[in-house]
Amino acid sequence: MDKKIIITIDGWSSCGKSTLAKQLARELGYVYIDSGAMYRSITLYFLRNHVDWTNPEAVHEALGHIKLQFHANHKNGQSEIFLNDENVEYVIRDLVVAEKVSEVAAIREVREYAVKQQQEMGRKKGIVMDGRDIGTVVFPDAELKIFMTADNAIRVQRRFKELYEKNPNVTIEEVRANLEMRDYIDSHREVSPLRQAEDALVLDNSHLTIRQQLDIALGWVKERL
Ligand code: CDP
Ligand code: CDP
Repeated sequence: MDKKIIITIDGWSSCGKSTLAKQLARELGYVYIDSGAMYRSITLYFLRNHVDWTNPEAVHEALGHIKLQFHANHKNGQSEIFLNDENVEYVIRDLVVAEKVSEVAAIREVREYAVKQQQEMGRKKGIVMDGRDIGTVVFPDAELKIFMTADNAIRVQRRFKELYEKNPNVTIEEVRANLEMRDYIDSHREVSPLRQAEDALVLDNSHLTIRQQLDIALGWVKERL
C-alpha cells in the first residue's frame, strides 16, 4: 500500500480516541500523534512555572520557552511526549493537569502554537492524530475523519478505572466533574471548539470492544486506500 492518508479522530473526553488512533497507526505503519498531550504539556509548564495565563504577554513569553517533541519508546515503540527534553507522558495524565488544560487550550495563541506544529507533522501524510479540532481545523482536507463518542457514564467509568489504578484516592465524582467540565469548555470556546466535521464518520463505541472499534475503522481506511 503506497498511498498514505491522513486520519483524524476527534470527540469527547475519554471515549477511546487514543486507543483507536494508536492501534490504527500500528496496523498501518503510520505515525500517531496525541494532540491532547501537547495541550496537557503546555498546561504542565504553565502550572510548574506559575505562568499567569490570563495575561497574553505572559503566555507569549512562556510559549517561547517551550519545546515539545514526540519520541518512540524503545521498549514498546509507543510515541511519548517530551517537554523541554523531559519525558512527561505520564505526569500530564494527572487530574491536576486535567483540571486546567481546557482553560489553557482555549487561549488563541496556545492553539496557534500547537496547530502549526501539528500541521507540520502531517506534511508527509501517513499520520493518525486525535484531539478536538483535528478534522475541522488542523487537517480539514484529511481523507478519513472519525468522530468518536460513547455514553457519558461509560466514559466516566473508563477514565476512573485508569486513574484509580495510578492513585486509589481518586473518586468517581471527581472524574465525572472533570470530564463534564472539559467537554463543556471544549465545545463552547470561541477558538476551534469541539464539533463534528460535516464529512466525519461517527463511531459510537459505548458497546464496542477495542477490537470491534478497530475493525470498523480499518474497514473505513480500506475504502479510502
Ligand atoms: O484523553 P482525554 O480525552 O481526556 O483528553 P486529551 O485528548 O488528552 O485532551 C486534553 C484537553 O486538551 C482537552 O480536554 C482539550 O481541552 C484540549 N485539546 C484541545 O483543545 N484540542 C485538541 N486537539 C486536543 C486536546
Ligand atoms: O483518548 P481518549 O481520552 O478518547 O480515550 P482513551 O484513553 O483511548 O480510552 C479511555 C479508556 O477507555 C481506556 O482505558 C481504554 O482502554 C478504554 N476503552 C474501552 O474500554 N473500550 C473501548 N471500546 C475503547 C476504549
